[in-house]
Amino acid sequence: MFDRSKKGERALLLQAQAPGQHDPALLEEFAELARSAGATVVGSLAARLDRPNPRYFVGTGKAEELKALRVALDADLILVNHALSPVQERNLEKLTECRVVDRTGLILDIFAQRARSHEGKLQVELAQLKHMSTRLVRGWTHLERQRGGAIGLRGPGETQLEIDRRLLAVRVKQLQKRLDKVEVQRNQARRSRERSALPVVALVGYTNAGKSTLFNAMTGAGVYAADQLFATLDPTLRRIDGLACGPIVLADTVGFIRELPHDLVAAFRSTLAEAREADLLLHVIDASDPERDTRVADVEGVLAEIGASDLPQVLVYNKIDRLESDVPRVDHPDRDGPLRVWTSARDGIGIDALLVAISQALASERVHQVLEVPAASGRLRARLHELGLVASEQPGEEGWRIEIDAPRARIEPLFGMQGGQGEWLKAALLAPNEGATYNQFDNPQP
Ligand code: GTP
Repeated sequence: MFDRSKKGERALLLQAQAPGQHDPALLEEFAELARSAGATVVGSLAARLDRPNPRYFVGTGKAEELKALRVALDADLILVNHALSPVQERNLEKLTECRVVDRTGLILDIFAQRARSHEGKLQVELAQLKHMSTRLVRGWTHLERQRGGAIGLRGPGETQLEIDRRLLAVRVKQLQKRLDKVEVQRNQARRSRERSALPVVALVGYTNAGKSTLFNAMTGAGVYAADQLFATLDPTLRRIDGLACGPIVLADTVGFIRELPHDLVAAFRSTLAEAREADLLLHVIDASDPERDTRVADVEGVLAEIGASDLPQVLVYNKIDRLESDVPRVDHPDRDGPLRVWTSARDGIGIDALLVAISQALASERVHQVLEVPAASGRLRARLHELGLVASEQPGEEGWRIEIDAPRARIEPLFGMQGGQGEWLKAALLAPNEGATYNQFDNPQP
């Protein structure tokens, strides 16, 4: 681990806001990101901005002010809470005689420090190289040599900076190829998990909400949890037994954040894929965060981006030990809304209630039913087996008597099957007791 306060670079933050907009939380969050990267924040400058100036991002006067402040504070790094164009970044560096890193570069840097799996590292390197490819010519590389790692230059940064673009393109291709391979392996692993038909429950939530701590509290596993953003970058999976609904697989995922650079959303789709393909999402919320409602909306936004907004959720209001009324409880919604569970992952409070809520939520999303599949529907039968949806099978009157026991979300993709088999399945599941033409149903024993 790096030491934040002693070795950290002295960073000056630049935060621009539209006229009339004043949201101190933006700056606070950015400062938190900077500290997560190992920087010591020595000051900040606010700028009112209608629209970005093509030359310096801010106006010339503001850029001069930034320069004066950086000298006065003896900062050795300027962090800008926006995405800068390569030209803006270079111009600002020249003017202030200081290294400038934009929001994307900063987040990439944190990711470079945190990635632990082979795949995570490859993905971060790829995203960094892409970000860097437009920013290769730098006049200040000598500055970094005096210090060890420098923000925005970790990971491939130090070695790759001077290589020419042709080599860079080769490296990008190589990485892409390796990643494709890893993805194939991952898909195979996922398929074998599907075959085992265990429901997957994914922890999602704003960074620092307490997902890893909750993961540990629920599984007893020693996953790295720290008061830093993005402490977890790679999905971590554990099986949990002893729930009323049977065993589940719990997946921890990367923390969400607003304005996550799009390159990274793409680069991290494999960890987010755990969320997309889950049967249930545990949306972890820092209940003590004054911004919690905005955070919830931010997370919903990212879930929509990755196509996971329709998945059933349980809302976990965590860190209740920081609230005045810290009673662990489960709120049942009036109608279809999600269950809300109030926990303190740190103190292990409310975890049992959460496990019960998971069982409940999964049970309501689960299909357990016996189907008389006609002999002509051999393909449907084969698919049901392939996807691991079959609990038992016996010869039926005109085909097979198949007991399905699986999350509804796993079964629904089969509704699109050709030859009327998908439609047949849908009708059979929707109306188990009405006479479909060529099947009879038994209701399963409870
Ligand atoms: P990312 O990896 O950034 O996505 O964070 P995360 O959501 O996994 O959060 P993590 O579990 O790393 O926790 C972040 C910080 O919150 C740590 O300092 C935890 O100790 C703290 N924390 C987690 N749960 C609780 C809780 O119930 N109460 C209190 N007071 N602190 C908590």
